[in-house]
Amino acid sequence: MVLVGIFLLFLIPLAVGLGVGLDPRRERYTRTRTSSTIAPKSTTRSSLKPSATPSVKPSAPAPVTTPGSLWQPQVGASWQIMLGQTLIVGKGQTVTPNVDIYDVDLFDTSAETIAALHDLGKHVICYFSAGSYEAWRPDAAKFAKTDLGSGVDGWAGENWVKTGSSTVRAAMTSRIALAASKGCDAIDPDNVDAYNNGNGLGLTTADAVDFVKFLAATAAKYNMSTGLKNAGDIIPSVVSSVAFSVNEQCAEYRECDKYSAFVNAGKPVFHIEYPGDAPNPTAAELTASCTASGAKGFSTVLKNMSLDKWVKYCNGQTA
Ligand SMILES: *[C@@H]1O[C@H](CO)[C@@H](O)[C@H](O)[C@H]1NC(C)=O
Ligand SMILES: *[C@@H]1O[C@H](CO)[C@@H](O)[C@H](O)[C@H]1NC(C)=O
Repeated sequence: MVLVGIFLLFLIPLAVGLGVGLDPRRERYTRTRTSSTIAPKSTTRSSLKPSATPSVKPSAPAPVTTPGSLWQPQVGASWQIMLGQTLIVGKGQTVTPNVDIYDVDLFDTSAETIAALHDLGKHVICYFSAGSYEAWRPDAAKFAKTDLGSGVDGWAGENWVKTGSSTVRAAMTSRIALAASKGCDAIDPDNVDAYNNGNGLGLTTADAVDFVKFLAATAAKYNMSTGLKNAGDIIPSVVSSVAFSVNEQCAEYRECDKYSAFVNAGKPVFHIEYPGDAPNPTAAELTASCTASGAKGFSTVLKNMSLDKWVKYCNGQTA
């Protein structure tokens, strides 16, 4: 396994660099939140989880109907994303970096931490995978075998899911209710771009549009806004349904222009680049990430692939 991992670690960037064979998007799945991009997440994740049981079990609030009142983050808002390491902030504590918004894992982050972030005047976006099944999640049993598609390349224990299935949608509705119960201001549903990947289920861009609209409408019932993760091809169809973009590597793949549609609509692009030399990116890497064509107004962060706490901003600030 380790040998295979090491092999892939070198093969994938090489193949991408050469532009041959592999779809470049293969390696840009956001599930880069593990401490290694190749290691099976089941192992890595469980080692990151001290004890998955939160000390307070929040109860899900009833859905609310508050059209027009959803939180709209501003273009250029400062943010941090931490998915591969659990953020813990106690009541009354401060947090570094002192940014406007934290994007954190829905399951791993406690309601106490989210409340402490709110006390500090911050907004919280809660991440979960919407378009893939992850075997190690506490609600994995809710998924039906018949709804699982191909395995997600490079990620053991993860499969694309039939996004139109009522079972899948019920599981996502529960996750959204969990996010509301924990106090999240918005959701960051990942893996909505199955159409870009060998998903084994025939999922198309039309399916992605329908799924994103479903997720956003469901989150809105709980007064939470929704982001579009990557999925640049469907931006024109969903930009009015979501409040922000979370993008990975648009500078590296030279597609920030596509995502600038969000900024033009008055909505932020939370933009992540993964410099090869993290946590010591070169000046050239910083420049390439921060001054990419089309990325004007983006909220850019340089992160390690593990999406741990290390972050570097375009102004040189690091934490
Ligand atoms: C960056 O991530 C790699 C694995 O993805 C890990 O081995 C390394 O310790 C991380 N570096 C820092 C500074 O967090
Ligand atoms: C919904 O969220 C908005 C923005 O955060 C907030 O101003 C409003 O009070 C919330 N509405 C309800 C009913 O909680």
